[in-house]
Amino acid sequence: MTRRFLFVLGSSRSDGNTEMLARAAAEQLPDDVEQVWIDLARHPLPDFEDLRHDSDHVRPEGDNRALLLDATLAATDIVIASPLYWYSVSAHVKRYLDHWSGWLRTPGLDFKEHMAGRTLWGVTALAHDEEEVAEPLVGTLNHSAAYLGMLPHCLKGVGGTPIGGVLLGNGSKPGDVLRDTAALTRAKTFFTVEPPFARFPYDREESAA
Ligand SMILES: Cc1cc2nc3c(=O)[nH]c(=O)nc-3n(C[C@H](O)[C@H](O)[C@H](O)COP(=O)(O)O)c2cc1C
Repeated sequence: MTRRFLFVLGSSRSDGNTEMLARAAAEQLPDDVEQVWIDLARHPLPDFEDLRHDSDHVRPEGDNRALLLDATLAATDIVIASPLYWYSVSAHVKRYLDHWSGWLRTPGLDFKEHMAGRTLWGVTALAHDEEEVAEPLVGTLNHSAAYLGMLPHCLKGVGGTPIGGVLLGNGSKPGDVLRDTAALTRAKTFFTVEPPFARFPYDREESAA
């Protein structure tokens, strides 16, 4: 199966550290892997309206929701490239994930079945030197993948515990991340590691028992 990577850019500015780090990782992808890049700031999604318990969601057409939905369904690999904002994903990315809840309830999409087995990756830039402050972002992506049965990438431990999925780079102003040589080194092999299934923490504890 040809792999298709969807890079979802979630920064509120263009050409920022997160995108630079994501592009450094993407450079290592083989030529036959398709790459689609969508910048959420340039393709803003409307606020998500929760209709789950009132009526069916309708498949969007002709707008940014449709663009993101079609790109998401077409991807074998989804890369959430979000700067660390208040220790979690940016509002752009959060809104994108909120729309997944509507797509889960859109008749005919079978979104959950469709997403099972796809791979979720994360890339983030943060100003803080101690990377463990990114745990809420890592948890958001890991648990979302676990909920959907997706595979998160496991790169490194935060706080000593192996957890799924995020390439971290340090930087405050645009370009700073290019001086984070450890992050750039990790980027070179980020997409090459075989991803394990995402699990909720309580599942990991049960399997270890
Ligand atoms: C709204 C906002 C919230 C932020 N929150 C955090 C944070 O919680 N922790 C942190 O280390 N850096 C935080 N930062 C700094 C950014 O993560 C940092 O500047 C990063 O390089 C931005 O990525 P970008 O260049 O891709 O936009 C925040 C920046 C903004 C604008």
